[in-house]
Amino acid sequence: AWSPERGQEIIADHIALEGATMPILHAMQETFGYVPQDAIPLIADAMNLSRAEVHGVFTFYHDFRHEPAGRHIVKVCVAEACQAAGARETSPKFEKALDCAFGETRPDGQVTLEPIYCLGLCACAPSAMVDGRLVGLIDDEAIAEIAAEVRS
Ligand code: FES
Repeated sequence: AWSPERGQEIIADHIALEGATMPILHAMQETFGYVPQDAIPLIADAMNLSRAEVHGVFTFYHDFRHEPAGRHIVKVCVAEACQAAGARETSPKFEKALDCAFGETRPDGQVTLEPIYCLGLCACAPSAMVDGRLVGLIDDEAIAEIAAEVRS
């Protein structure tokens, strides 16, 4: 679990690397499953950067998160090709079926729902990713299956 001491250890392990901010953020995310808000000032101090600069790196990469993720992670593509293929209708259906809003983790911790910008599966749009697995041609049936999957 996160503690400032544990955070300092991770910083010390990576500080010598070229452009250490990214490797430190990655190592924290890997160790704790997220990058605690409290880690940002520690990294800023160690790297001689402002908090805003570290926060900028954090927000630029969509895979970093400040809260632990749910047991399952569903990413729904909201980029252009998927929008054109009906993602505008399927996205709210995901929220309803999973009982979870975009950008949130359901209170029971079962699922985190996130928008993503192109999964490289435009030919099978609309598409999504469930726990790292690509799913194309999303329709009502696919959404129901995904909802069943995250129940377990
Ligand atoms: Fe959705 Fe490319 S736009 S996969």
